[in-house]
Amino acid sequence: MSRKILVTSALPYANGPLHLGHLAGAYLPADIYVRYQRLQKRDIVYVCATDEHGVPITIKAEKEGKTPQQIVDFYHEQMKESFAKFGMSFDHFSATHRQIHHETSQDFFLKLYENGYIEKQEIQQMFCDTCNRFLPDRYIEGTCPNCGKDGARGDQCEKCGRWLSPEEIVKPKCKICGNTPHLRNSTHWFLQLEKFQDRLAAWLDSKPNWKDNVKKFCQQWFESGLQPRCITRDIDWGIPVPLEDAKGKVLYVWFDAPIGYVSATKEWAQQIGQPEKWKEYWLNPDCELVHFIGKDNIVFHAMVWPSVLMGYGEYVLPTDIPANEFLNIEGEKISTSRNYAIWLHEYLEEFPADYLRFYLNAIAPEKADANFTWEEFQLRINSEFADIYGNLVNRSLTFIKRFADGKIPPLGALTADDQATLNEIAATKAAMTDALETYQFKKAQTDWMNLARVGNQYFQRSAPWELQKKDPAACGTVLHVCALLIKNLAVLGAPLLPFTMQQAWELLGEAGNVHEQAWEQIGAFVFQEGQPIAQNIGVLVSKVEDKKIQQQKEKLAKMLSGAETPQAQPAAAPLLELQPQITIDEFAKIDLRAGKVLSAERVPKSEKLIKMQIDIGLETRQILAGIGKFYEPEQLVGKTVIVVANLKPAKLMGQESQGMVLAGVYGDNLSVSAFEKADVQPGAKVR
Ligand code: 2FM
Ligand code: ZN
Repeated sequence: MSRKILVTSALPYANGPLHLGHLAGAYLPADIYVRYQRLQKRDIVYVCATDEHGVPITIKAEKEGKTPQQIVDFYHEQMKESFAKFGMSFDHFSATHRQIHHETSQDFFLKLYENGYIEKQEIQQMFCDTCNRFLPDRYIEGTCPNCGKDGARGDQCEKCGRWLSPEEIVKPKCKICGNTPHLRNSTHWFLQLEKFQDRLAAWLDSKPNWKDNVKKFCQQWFESGLQPRCITRDIDWGIPVPLEDAKGKVLYVWFDAPIGYVSATKEWAQQIGQPEKWKEYWLNPDCELVHFIGKDNIVFHAMVWPSVLMGYGEYVLPTDIPANEFLNIEGEKISTSRNYAIWLHEYLEEFPADYLRFYLNAIAPEKADANFTWEEFQLRINSEFADIYGNLVNRSLTFIKRFADGKIPPLGALTADDQATLNEIAATKAAMTDALETYQFKKAQTDWMNLARVGNQYFQRSAPWELQKKDPAACGTVLHVCALLIKNLAVLGAPLLPFTMQQAWELLGEAGNVHEQAWEQIGAFVFQEGQPIAQNIGVLVSKVEDKKIQQQKEKLAKMLSGAETPQAQPAAAPLLELQPQITIDEFAKIDLRAGKVLSAERVPKSEKLIKMQIDIGLETRQILAGIGKFYEPEQLVGKTVIVVANLKPAKLMGQESQGMVLAGVYGDNLSVSAFEKADVQPGAKVR
């Protein structure tokens, strides 16, 4: 009987565009796995959806003067498009603000409630009087009680990693308005996680092959003992808690999100006209359920979600949770709040999707964090994808055109070398099968690349350009072997590089779709006699130029310096009106100079003020600026800024400020960087 597999990728929050980190974490590996299993003709369904609840969405909506629905609809469409362009082959891509998901989530809640796994409790929660709202944990910031560092959030301190609860935070502040919140009573519903501890432990013990990062994480949780977890919230955007005494409460986004996997499967079943079909997967103990996620989602998928499934009963439990580590970019953490990322829709304006699939998979963060650099991207594409694979395809097909009238020549008697080369196909297939079944996608790609390398070396050794003169039949055999390599490589590589492999398939003159072939056939493929290859060969994998890489590097540098603002959705703040005109002479009175920030430090007792020593060529100035909410002092050092050099000195918090630094200010954004090139001399006149 064919294996039944249900694959999911973490549901992305619909509150911002997708970036490289998303792709590398939960989507590319899942898509490779799914495409491979389809070639194996397994009964597989792949679902995903946008995660449309949670406070960040409501806050974004408020900020932009839109409704949460408008926000999630916009990003749902944008994500759907980006995913499609990268070849993510979901069977269905749903959204968690749909009716079917609301009903499914409420059903889960009620069932767990009836089964005695959810209990009501009166708790105290942080409330901000200014914002007139209960604050979600992530919207409380302050000092960590564990490590003493600032910037700890109500749920976790990112500096020391400790999980926190809001009342533990020292000097708590509302992240929205900056005021001090206080505790207020509220009723909530808790999932009794501790009731599942023993079953979870036994279940996890039965998964010796899971990735270490997942197992270690769970171990840590067991050691500290599972606690009841609050699964309701006091906001008005979300799924209403389906109980009489829970008016105004909604389900916590992390409770409903994984249920989205179920609702997406239900919606898929409806859309293919077999509404009951989802049960063949979810209510089938023999179905393999595989959740692809990033490491920040481990606890929810390996502890909370299986508890929910156990508490409901009937449902299948996850077979595996291949979690990836994080992807950094040029050595820096991706940060959507600081706008430091490579956005998928922007990448696609410059390069083909498969280039990113190739490079991201080559450095996939399977066991440790990985680092994306534009230079390595270029190197890998040019020296591997283009020089090895692309070259094999191009020269083989060019020779077939030239020596064999554009038709694949017949396979004659095989030399030992021809045979040995062909044998590599089966060896690669075996190695890749093993790697793909065990989520080692990076290794699968290396195996694939090695087969292309074998082909290239074989081509070189066989020297068809000479063989043609001495023994045209033997030359034809060599070209036939090369064409066979390309055909097998196309099916082997189809899960990895879906667009390029389809093109290669067509270049060989094959009809149909490479993705509809069978893995089983690899090694046994033949050609029709005299099969004509494509008329127009072109260059299958072209190289990435230095200029383009340079542009991308500059863009990232701008993002780091804060000069590049997010493209996504414009802020709604009105622009200030223009001031009355002045004459050129009046303007000339203002002496503007380029200044280089030599050092910067915060002014004690002030949240806003930063004191800088700035070299303005002729002298060094001490300038205080109210930019502490937008910059850390160390981010400013080395920047070239514009200084108003003839402004009368003033005292701010008892310290002299000898001039002013210009900044662009709009809504919540502020930036002091103005020069595109870093080599403007301190003291240079700004006109
Ligand atoms: O971390 C995230 O982006 C979450 N939106 C992932 C949810 S995964 C699942 F449970 F739906
Ligand atoms: Zn507030």
